[in-house]
Amino acid sequence: MSKIDVFVNDVGPRDGLQNQAVHVSPQDRVTLINALLDAGLPGVEVASFVSPKAVPQMAGADVILSELAEQDQQISVLVPNLKGYELARAAGARIISVVPASSDTMNRKNINMGLEETMAVSCEILRHAKQDGITAQAYIATAVACPYEGYIAPDVIVPLAETLADAGAELLIMADTIGAANPAQIRDLFVALSGSFRPDQMAAHLHDTRALALANVYAALEVGIRRFDSSIGGLGGCPFAPGAAGNLATEDLVAMLHQMGLKTGIDLEKLLATSELAGRLVERAIGGRMKAWLDTNLDKIQAAQ
Ligand code: COA
Ligand code: ZN
Repeated sequence: MSKIDVFVNDVGPRDGLQNQAVHVSPQDRVTLINALLDAGLPGVEVASFVSPKAVPQMAGADVILSELAEQDQQISVLVPNLKGYELARAAGARIISVVPASSDTMNRKNINMGLEETMAVSCEILRHAKQDGITAQAYIATAVACPYEGYIAPDVIVPLAETLADAGAELLIMADTIGAANPAQIRDLFVALSGSFRPDQMAAHLHDTRALALANVYAALEVGIRRFDSSIGGLGGCPFAPGAAGNLATEDLVAMLHQMGLKTGIDLEKLLATSELAGRLVERAIGGRMKAWLDTNLDKIQAAQ
């Protein structure tokens, strides 16, 4: 892959599809993932190994991994517990992400464990992954705001991140799960984390509920973060976090980065076609906040690259 300035990881096939009314089949999810890879995404989160009773939309994670061809790009999966880890390992996962949240209530609602137990289980998974030669990453969900417990300060997050890194997490993904953060809070969080971590150990996962995701990306860029999650077409949301609707659309993120002269390696035209494909799969109109403009002005951005 030629040199890129910013690593964009599309989480649409997981975060985007996990709470859609239409349940997209594993075969169609593979088609979507391959379209994202073909558009040049350096990373895609393709599935989660969660209970199909809790999240029926994610059933068939093993089928998805088995159908994806070998590629240079980073294919990751989410695992909430040891059972999910075992299933992911057996299915041949190369990169896994654990997903502790910042508060006791959010963890209970999401994965039926309190914060302490979630952290212990997450660390156990991270240690297993390291032994098994699997790359281990950790989200911290609701890293700025929890739908149940409100604002979460950086001094709560930093020790959680340190614990996860000590257990083997190579990447710490700060998730504004409900899209409630503002740019000053995102800056402060990453500045606080910078006391313990290099920029390349951190990533941001920013929902767009209040139309602040791009502003939050900019705040993170300004303090050195160069890795972002986003979701094709802006699909997204956690079924267990009220207010989580609407991830940052990958096409909005890529369009902004390209206009700023930052290389992503992504073909925006193919990305827009992939967004149309995702819309067909969920059977409704989707697209980022820039959609109307992008549909007629793509050449202006390409000219700027
Ligand atoms: N994958 C598949 N099945 C799983 C599983 C996993 N990772 N973890 C547990 N199960 C199964 C168990 O085998 C059991 O099945 P059974 O009823 O047929 O015996 C059932 O789920 C309940 O198991 P238990 O350990 O009691 O889990 P729980 O009811 O406490 O639920 C989770 C815990 C984590 C499995 C569940 O809350 C979950 O999958 N949450 C997903 C949250 C999510 O995806 N959030 C969005 C992304 S952040
Ligand atoms: Zn999310």
